[in-house]
Amino acid sequence: AKPVRLALLGCGTVGTEVVRLLHEQAEDLTARIGAPLELAGIAVRRLGRERGDLPVDPALFTTDALGLIKRDDVDVVIEVVGGIEPARTWLVEALRAGKSVVTANKALLAEDGGTLHDAAAEGNADLYYEASVAGAIPLLRPMRESLHGDRVTAVTGIVNGTTNFILSSMASTGAGFNEALEEATELGYAEADPTADVEGFDAAAKAAILASLAFHTRVTAADVFREGMTGVTAGDMASAKEMGCTIKLLCIAQRTADSVSVRVHPAMIPLSHPLAGVGDAFNAVFVEAEAAGPLMFYGRGAGGRPTASAVLGDIVAAARNKLTGTRAPSESNYAELTVRPIGES
Ligand code: NDP
Ligand code: HSE
Repeated sequence: AKPVRLALLGCGTVGTEVVRLLHEQAEDLTARIGAPLELAGIAVRRLGRERGDLPVDPALFTTDALGLIKRDDVDVVIEVVGGIEPARTWLVEALRAGKSVVTANKALLAEDGGTLHDAAAEGNADLYYEASVAGAIPLLRPMRESLHGDRVTAVTGIVNGTTNFILSSMASTGAGFNEALEEATELGYAEADPTADVEGFDAAAKAAILASLAFHTRVTAADVFREGMTGVTAGDMASAKEMGCTIKLLCIAQRTADSVSVRVHPAMIPLSHPLAGVGDAFNAVFVEAEAAGPLMFYGRGAGGRPTASAVLGDIVAAARNKLTGTRAPSESNYAELTVRPIGES
């Protein structure tokens, strides 16, 4: 069958692992999809950057992302660059032109996801973003599909790997904040600007995406109460330990009859609580639904390869849809729910 052609935007921590997985799994993916996946081009900022021995033709690299997206032979656009602009312009262009989009860009989805969903509806195009929340954990697909017959009432969890790595190191080895952040950055967990992690912006973006899907409404990052973890000291951690507790940066989204409240802040939790044992850069998310009861999702929440796994899953879904002429579930029907500050019922 004719190959499904991919434009990869970004080839950093996540993008390089997407390239590797596409190469390593090529045969299986072709069998699973029914057609081969083929890279049409890779857009980056610096052509001369050292990228190790990537299994890819160097002639595929370009700095002209928009030109690549507009090419007629591109079916699926994969965005692993990050940030609001120029990513929003690129993705809107792709979606309006009917190209499927796979993105890991939680900052953009949380700030202006509505614009992307509207562009997808306009272009009758797929918008997939499993990697944007909780890295490798299959979480958004169950929220987007499996739980659609139920009523989700709350989502609580650890959704930032970098801060969980730092807090876990502080709790277990007594490592200092700066030392642990440096290690998390080296391991590819942190954002390009780690302020987004430690000040809770990244977790707030993910909380907004989760709340939007859980409650079928549009929650943006600006709606989320946010307190980072830079104020948590070694002394706080020691006091928590004395009380049989630990400190985690939590995301908490709740639904009442006609409103939602979403918040991110450090919280002291008993060591017996299941979230207390979530270490390293792992994430864990509890979902409570009326009929299903409690559900828990757990796995690697950050890092190039785990995140690339989620991106690949979306690429396969988008490629299959291209071949069969079907589409991802639409998110253009949503309820207007009031987002209330915490404490207000
Ligand atoms: P990196 O900073 O490692 O990579 C970013 C890539 O984008 C680089 O290849 C860079 O090019 C390229 N780029 C930046 N600006 C431009 C531009 N203007 N035009 C073309 N290319 C550009 O980021 P990550 O791989 O860590 O993250 C990518 C996305 O994935 C972000 O949205 C992030 O939030 C998200 N994400 C990251 C996770 C992680 O664990 N790292 C996990 C889940 C999601 P160059 O190489 O030339 O510098
Ligand atoms: N910087 C993010 C984290 C990457 O540490 O969780 C995964 O989204």
